[in-house]
Parts: sequence; structure tokens; C-alpha cells
Amino acid sequence: MQTILILDHGSQYTQLIARKVREANVYCEIHPYNKIPEINEDIKGVILSGSPYSVTDPDAPKTDLSSFIGKLPVLGICYGAQYLVHRNGGKVEKSKIREYGRANLSFADNDCILLKDVKQNSQVWMSHGDTILELPENFEVICSTESVKNAGYRVKGEDTYAIQFHPEVYHSEYGFVLLKNFVEKICGCDCSWTPKNFVESTVKELKDKLKDDKVVLGLSGGVDSSVAAVLLHKAIGKNLHCIFVDNGLLRKNEFNSVLESYKDMGLNVKGVDASKDFYEVLSGVTEPEKKRKAIGAKFIDVFDREANAIKDVTWLAQGTIYPDVIESSSVKGPSQTIKSHHNVGGLPEYMKLKIVEPLRSLFKDEVRRVGKELGLKSELLERHPFPGPGLAIRILGDVTEEKVKILQEVDNIFIENLKSSDLYNKVWQAGAVLLPIQSVGVMGDERTYERVVALRAVESVDGMTADWSRLPYDFLAKVSNQIINQVKGVNRVCYDISSKPPATIEWE
Ligand code: XMP
Repeated sequence: MQTILILDHGSQYTQLIARKVREANVYCEIHPYNKIPEINEDIKGVILSGSPYSVTDPDAPKTDLSSFIGKLPVLGICYGAQYLVHRNGGKVEKSKIREYGRANLSFADNDCILLKDVKQNSQVWMSHGDTILELPENFEVICSTESVKNAGYRVKGEDTYAIQFHPEVYHSEYGFVLLKNFVEKICGCDCSWTPKNFVESTVKELKDKLKDDKVVLGLSGGVDSSVAAVLLHKAIGKNLHCIFVDNGLLRKNEFNSVLESYKDMGLNVKGVDASKDFYEVLSGVTEPEKKRKAIGAKFIDVFDREANAIKDVTWLAQGTIYPDVIESSSVKGPSQTIKSHHNVGGLPEYMKLKIVEPLRSLFKDEVRRVGKELGLKSELLERHPFPGPGLAIRILGDVTEEKVKILQEVDNIFIENLKSSDLYNKVWQAGAVLLPIQSVGVMGDERTYERVVALRAVESVDGMTADWSRLPYDFLAKVSNQIINQVKGVNRVCYDISSKPPATIEWE
């Protein structure tokens, strides 16, 4: 398959480059700059990413370009551009002023294929501390801004190009045109990597790989595991055995309604009600990470038991997606654990199952597009993310069945109102939190002393950063009234107005 290789030097924008290349319907992979894969004939070009380092730092990344430079098309971005200049004897120095933010192209050579159709004077996004003062011999300027003469260049006699600005970010008006020029016109990719193609080729690969073997998959009701299941089902039909565990921490009625829709899709799925087992291990546990660990361990326990009951199963399928893969092999290494999100932390050794991960190369939005291609209902595809440990991490303090019931009612009122007011798809994630305090209220002539809940709704792209949703006051008023009137035991509703960072989306 035609592939663009993106070598990561640790820039915050590297994933965005990959997403833009894929938007041009070209498959690409990110690899750390110091772990360059073998160059085979599938690789049509290489992009060198930006970096937080300056090329003049002693410990700056020193990428070994020897396997592809001059042989394959190369596009250097920001650090990538400076690195190529530096290693060829040009001059790169710290800028007097940090060049950050919007700039306009005062000159763009439209005869250069990279800049074909890139408009003169259009806006680009700069973010670098170094500047290219002198280009090596054989390097030719292809664009400039007011303050940066060498904003882009090409190397004569090679398909090597580079730019100082970031074409992958939204603020570079013609950034996508430029990247598309690179992959399509310079690398010669046929831009045929579409969801339809992905489905066809993955189904074929899965058939070849799995043959008549049996596969077990844990469904969660979420987008990733559902899409993985449908894809596998298309490839191996009834040999896919799905297990959907009710941990007693799901949303109101969720277990039954999701189980029904899985069955409607023709999946061979077994629903397992293990709520009581989960409540038991959670009893008295108040510390968030301990809750996650207890839930993770119990899940493995239940899953293991159910998987063992399937005769001759040899594969375990997982809904791992590309950001998880990149995260674990990134230049910076796996990021510090703030919350241990991967609650299914691997299976016991003795299960000896081989792993198959059909969505391993996809970003979240691509998983949704593939799901759509596979005919999954939009209801399933557009669901908000929901944490594996479920309501347990939205009940501050210890978890009991009674508290879960209260929170399910509150959450249900909030979510149903979001849907009926056409706000559900405008927020990225929403839910309710049960606080470990009581407050004084008055109902009729009676003094009450009852529970407090907080509502949380955020806008985000990937959950890494988030801002609280500015939901209309009238909407919040309606939801608050309904909750206090209908949910016994709750007499106060708050709305969380914290952004991430410094807060997180979940309270635990
Ligand atoms: P935070 O709270 O870290 O959440 O801002 C970011 C996203 O991750 C989800 N989340 C989890 N997902 N297991 C999961 O599967 C977990 O333990 C977990 N904790 C948080 C959270 O719902 C949000 O979408």
C-alpha cells in the first residue's frame, strides 16, 4: 500500500500532519526519528516533523537520512527544514524575536510544484525559535514572508522541499493544498486510501490471517469495539464471539439497549450480567486509581471465564486505535500516568491468545467513517465517549448500588434533554457526577438535607484538552428542575465550569 513516512521529532503537531495526509486519502505512518523503518517500495515519500529542539542544541535529534534522502521525495517542516539546512552547511540561528503566529507569504513561487495553487499573500502559521539565515549551495528559496526570507526552499536536482511554517494547522490557509501537492504531485500517490478501500483490504487481510480460527472480542458499547466487531464479523462471520459485560456501572438501560442493537447487527454476542461481582470488589474503595484497578481486574476475571467457555478460541481482538499505538512508541515515551485509562491492562499469560487489532492504524474520526461505511447506526457512531470504569469514577467516594441508581437517573435526565434540545452532538462529552456531600434545602415546608450532583459538559477534539460547554441558561434551568423534582435524594445541582487543563474531564 502506498505509504508516506512521517518521522517524528517530538512536535506537538506531528499527529496533525498525519491526519491531513490521510484527509488527502493517502495512508501514512508516524515513526520516531531514531527508529526509521526499512525503506521499501510502498514508501512514496518522507515528511520530517517539527521539534521542540533547536538544531543548535547539543542533544537535538540527529536523524539519519541516508536511506532515503535524494532517492525519495522529502518534505521538511519547521525543525525538519532547519535540520536539512544545518547538516548541509547552511546557517541556522536563534531568531532575535520568536516567530510565532500568523504571517503572510509575501512571495510564493507558483512554478514550484509544492506551491502550485498556493495564493500569494495567503496566511501561514509560524512557530519556531530558530531561523534559516543562509541556505547551502544548491538550495533555492521558494517562498518568503515579511520577516522570514527563507520561509521555504527546494534542493536543486532532488525532490527535497522544506518549509518553516506549519501547513498542517488550520491557520495556514493553503496548508492542505501544499500537503496535497506534496503527496499527490511530488510523491505520485494515487490518493485512493478511502474508508471503502480500507474496509475491503482489511476484510481480505483478516480472512487470510484468521482463516477458520475463532476470535473473541470484548464489546463495550463504544465506537471502537463496535466498529472492530462489525469489521471482523464481515471477515469471519460466526467465528467471531463477542462478550459484552454488564459491570453495573453503565448508563441507565444501556446494557439492554446496546445488546439489542448488537444482535440486530447480526453479531454473535453474549451479554453477561456481572454487576454484583463488580459492586462487591468496589465495596469500601474510595481512591480513584484503586477503583480503576479493581474494575480492571474484575473485568479480566469475568472475561477470562467467558472466553474459556468458548471452545478452541485462539485469538483475542482488541479495538486499539492509532493514538494508543503512537503514544506507546513516541519520541517522548509514554506520557506520565495522570489516570490509568487503559483499564483492560492485558490478559493473564495462561490464556495464550494471539492478538488481532483491526483498527490499529486509524484515528478516531477515521474509525467513525469506517463505521459509517460498514452501515453502523449513527446512534452508535455519534455516542459520546464513556470511560471504561463507567459511573464508578463519577461517584466520588465509595460506590454502592444505591448511588449508581441515583446517578443513572440524574445522568439520564441530562443526556435525554441534551438530545431533545439538539445539543447532544454539539458537546463532545457530557455526564453527571455524584458528590460525597449533602446540602440543606427546602421542599414544601420541610427542611431537606440531601445529595449534590454536578453536571459536566465539554467541548474537545480528542479529550487531551477541553473547555466547558456554554450550555444555555434556560436549558440548564430546565435540567436542574427536572433532576431535583424527579430524583429522590438530590436537592442541589451544580454546573462544572472548569477547563482542561488544569482540571480534567472526569472528576476522578
Ligand atoms: P480526563 O478525565 O483524563 O479524561 O480528562 C479524558 C477522557 O478519557 C476518559 N477517561 C477514561 N476512559 N478509562 C477509560 O476508558 C478510564 O479510566 C478513563 N478515565 C477517563 C474520559 O471519559 C474522557 O473522555
